[in-house]
Amino acid sequence: MTTSPVLEFEQVAMDFDGKTVFKDLSFELHWNETLGLTGPSGCGKSTVLRIAVDLASPVEGEVRFLGTSVSSWDPIELRRRMILVPQEASMFPGTIRDNLEWPLRVHKLPVDEDKMQEVLEHVLLWPIDLNKIAANLSGGQKQRVAMARALLLEPEALLLDEPTSALDAKATLAVEQTIASLAKAHDIGVVIVTHNKEQAERFTSRVIEMKGE
Ligand SMILES: Nc1ncnc2c1ncn2[C@@H]1O[C@H](COP(=O)(O)OP(=O)(O)OP(=O)(O)O)[C@@H](O)[C@H]1O
Ligand SMILES: [Mg+2]
Repeated sequence: MTTSPVLEFEQVAMDFDGKTVFKDLSFELHWNETLGLTGPSGCGKSTVLRIAVDLASPVEGEVRFLGTSVSSWDPIELRRRMILVPQEASMFPGTIRDNLEWPLRVHKLPVDEDKMQEVLEHVLLWPIDLNKIAANLSGGQKQRVAMARALLLEPEALLLDEPTSALDAKATLAVEQTIASLAKAHDIGVVIVTHNKEQAERFTSRVIEMKGE
C-alpha cells in the first residue's frame, strides 16, 4: 500500500463562465477515512467530486489520486479505482443483476454471487429480486444499487453525492451507519457530500465546510 493520501486537493479553484465557484480548496482524504463535504446549495460540492474523477478541470491547483495527478491517469482506470456515485444515480437498461454485472464485464472481472449478495446486504437492499427492471426502482433504491455496483469493483475511493437525499429518516440512519463502516470494512477512502452539516458531523470523521462565494 502506498503512503500517499488516497486523494489530495491542493489550492484548487473552479469557475464557470468567468464566475468563481470556489477557490483555495485544499484537503486530503486518507485510507480508512470517511470525509464529509458540506456547504450551501451551489457552493460547488458536486463539482469537487467531478473534478476528483477528472470529469471537470479546475482553473487552478493540483488534484492527485494515489500521488499522481488525476489528469495523468488513464480515465477508465481512474474511474474504476475512484468511483463517483452521483446524486441522481442512473441505471443501465435491464435488470438489477444486469446493472451489477455490467461494470464487472467491462473491466473483465469475475461475477461472484456471494459477493453480490454481500454488497447488497451492505447497502441494505438484500433480499431483493435481481430480475426486477432497474429503471423501475425508487430514487433511493437506485442510488443504493449504484453504491453496490461501485463496491463490486473494489475501488480505493468512493465519492458519494448526497447519498441519503432520496431516503426516509429510518433508511437514512441505516445507510449512514453502513457508510460509516464502509471505509474501514473495505480499507478505502470515502467522501460524502451533504448539504446537512449535522448529518456530516454525525457519521464522518472529519468535515470540510465550503462557504460559497
Ligand atoms: N457544467 C457547468 N457549467 C456551468 N456552470 C456549472 C456547471 N456545473 C456546475 N455549474 C455551476 O457551479 C455552481 C456549483 O454547482 P454544484 O452542482 O457543484 O453545486 P452543489 O454544491 O453540488 O449544489 P447542490 O447542493 O444544490 O447539489 C452552480 O452555480 C452551478 O450552476
Ligand atoms: Mg450537488
